[in-house]
Amino acid sequence: MKTTIAEVGKHVNESVTIGVWLHNKRSSGKIAFLQLRDGTGFIQGVIVKSVVGEELFEQAKHLNQETSLYVTGEIVEDKRSPLGYELQVTGFEIIQEAHDYPITPKEHGPEFLMDHRHLWLRSKKQHAIMKVRNEIIRATYEFFNDEGFVKIDPPILTGASAEGTTELFHTKYFDEDAYLSQSGQLYLEAAAMALGKVFSFGPTFRAEKSKTRRHLIEFWMIEPEMAFMDHDDSLVIQENYVQHLVQSVLKNCDMELDVLERDKEQLEKIKAPFPRITYDDAIEFLKKEGFEDIDWGDDFGAPHETAIAKAHDQPVFITHFPTEIKAFYMQPDPNNEKVALCADLIAPEGYGEIIGGSERIYDYELMKKRYEEHGLEGPAYEWYLQLREYGSVPHSGFGLGLERTVAWISGTEHIRETIPFPRLLNRLYP
Ligand code: 4AD
Ligand code: MG
Repeated sequence: MKTTIAEVGKHVNESVTIGVWLHNKRSSGKIAFLQLRDGTGFIQGVIVKSVVGEELFEQAKHLNQETSLYVTGEIVEDKRSPLGYELQVTGFEIIQEAHDYPITPKEHGPEFLMDHRHLWLRSKKQHAIMKVRNEIIRATYEFFNDEGFVKIDPPILTGASAEGTTELFHTKYFDEDAYLSQSGQLYLEAAAMALGKVFSFGPTFRAEKSKTRRHLIEFWMIEPEMAFMDHDDSLVIQENYVQHLVQSVLKNCDMELDVLERDKEQLEKIKAPFPRITYDDAIEFLKKEGFEDIDWGDDFGAPHETAIAKAHDQPVFITHFPTEIKAFYMQPDPNNEKVALCADLIAPEGYGEIIGGSERIYDYELMKKRYEEHGLEGPAYEWYLQLREYGSVPHSGFGLGLERTVAWISGTEHIRETIPFPRLLNRLYP
């Protein structure tokens, strides 16, 4: 019977056939161990000369890594293996004999691996990261559906900049100028006025010339937007959402976290509510920690965020940033107009900012003033101001960066490994 590695538990002591690739092998005179993978998982195949005969045994010993096969054998329980089962091979049929595979079990540098990303994805670690990514996506839909949100797909080709004018990818839209979306937020605000609670999940683009372990040029963002919700209401949704992501991965990706050697205790600790500190307190804390370069009005860099994160074992909200360094649409704090009702959520263990969010300005006159200050005009922006004319209500929203969240939860040092085909500064291939 044909099956997959993920399903072998249903076929104990039965003979099955599985389509596989040869991941690795070792052999002695009479027995060979084949590490096999089929995409759904990894299993060890044991091949014994006296069972399969001289000819097949010799053939098995000389198979190249990544050769594709149909392998047949009996599934037996094996408590020592991570999967709990192994395959006692009775025969196999080669589909394609692989040429010499460039990625061997020995160490390779990151540039070599990135050049071979189309093949590198097959490795055990990359496989595990993609499974964690998939679980985070699944748990995202689960969370927002259970909370009554409606999924909205904002456009990718846009006429306006949502976050700032410097980091846009420009393209032609027939005779007009267009940009790849930096954020779907402005459209989600319109949708929230139609559907109440909405969220998007899609690719976003930033032409940032940053080459760090936290920046991608193209990344995926989850952006919820909620009518009649203030800043504090939004923080509660954010912490419950992030807690749900962590718990879902712990529950459904146990084997993958083991492959990644993730310290699960760090994840098990994650429990809402998360600590909240103001920007003012953060500045004071950083000065005490010996950061002399930081002053009120400055934005935080990676070392600042890491220092703040290290002081907590939960994700931390930094709230009330200076209005000056944040986006034009953020609601100023009625108690202190110099700061905005906003928050960044900083992941533990130095993985950086995973969420940016705020309450939005809903007063027509104040938004009009911001348009003048920021020089926003023309058809690309007019519609957004109009939202403040027809039953404008307090509303809030946020954006969670998928890849930074995958990096944190999976314990992956560099963001380039958290997306199948990363777009980085100076890398458009593969
Ligand atoms: O803080 P950002 O820029 O916020 C927004 O775009 C808002 N419009 C979202 C909203 O309120 N609807 O980006 C949100 C998150 C960041 O916290 C970070 O996790 C991720 O997106 N992010 C990046 N991830 C990878 N590479 C980059 N270059 C990123 N820039 C932002
Ligand atoms: Mg941000």
